[in-house]
Amino acid sequence: MRPPSRFVRAALPALLLLVLAACSAGDSATFPQSTLIPKGDFAAMVDQLFMTTFWWALAVFILVEGVLVLAIWKFRAKPGDAEPAQTHGNTMLEIVWTIVPSAILAFIAVPTVKTIWRTSEAPGRDALVVEVIGHQWWFEFRYPEYGIVTANELRVPMGRTVDLRLTTADVIHSFWVPQFAGKRDMIARHTNHFWFTAADTGIFSGQCAEFCGTQHGRMGFHVVSSDSAGFQAWVAVQKGSAPDSAMAKDSLYQAGKQAFAVGGCMGCHAMAGQPTEKLTQLVGPNLSHVASRHHLVAGMLENTDENLARWIRDPNAVKEGSLMKLPRPMTEAEITALVHYLRSHR
Ligand code: CUA
Repeated sequence: MRPPSRFVRAALPALLLLVLAACSAGDSATFPQSTLIPKGDFAAMVDQLFMTTFWWALAVFILVEGVLVLAIWKFRAKPGDAEPAQTHGNTMLEIVWTIVPSAILAFIAVPTVKTIWRTSEAPGRDALVVEVIGHQWWFEFRYPEYGIVTANELRVPMGRTVDLRLTTADVIHSFWVPQFAGKRDMIARHTNHFWFTAADTGIFSGQCAEFCGTQHGRMGFHVVSSDSAGFQAWVAVQKGSAPDSAMAKDSLYQAGKQAFAVGGCMGCHAMAGQPTEKLTQLVGPNLSHVASRHHLVAGMLENTDENLARWIRDPNAVKEGSLMKLPRPMTEAEITALVHYLRSHR
């Protein structure tokens, strides 16, 4: 066999370094979907279990591969060697290599089962109940305690356990916020339970984790965790009424309100100040207070005038296969007014 070329000898360590670089711890901003940066009690438990299992697996790997490499090296064929003695079976060895892995598995099973039980326990009674409903392709969040319905942005107070009740309006989805908890399926006519307590404030990325159609990959959302005062301020804003009376003399706002009603938006979206305000079974996200959200289109776009206009102008161009269909294309004047109207709803 030819020895590896100088290029291969130089490139191999570089490649190895590149592969190992992927293992760097990093931070939430660089790796928003990393499960290795836990920010809550549930995720921390899972992370701890993963690390325990990982170090055991590493020890087994080094031991097994070490013995293998040693055996290959030490007992390799040399020129002039006679045929080695032929053996079959070794009772002592077989007993040892059955007992040792069994013991390791039993040892790992204890923290595993403990974590499964702990994470399946019911959250305390003072937990904040949030009903989470999966839709193709967005998330609905309802807060029965406050009568708030929102979409694609789960607001939580840091330090208070969130009691999530998961279900779906259509196909099976899976709720996943890597930094707060594992994954849990959202199934029709069945409520799955899940909980976590945020230990940090900030905006964290979430994602549907069960293939659910064309835009499964873009069925995202964000968890916004704030301190208790910040959360209560958000609740107060969400419970506030539509800014209609303050905007009575704003003609662009009135034109936008009109466009919302006649342009077909009302057929799918609940909206403060519109006849659909209290409807809860519509197919699109509730748009009351839409301007208070950080993102649009299931976490895909920043919530700006330009992005909102782009989305309304041609939803399919932004998110192919989107179920948002306008009965007719809106005029640019209507889009401008509608963007102003929606962005006034903080
Ligand atoms: Cu919903 Cu994938």
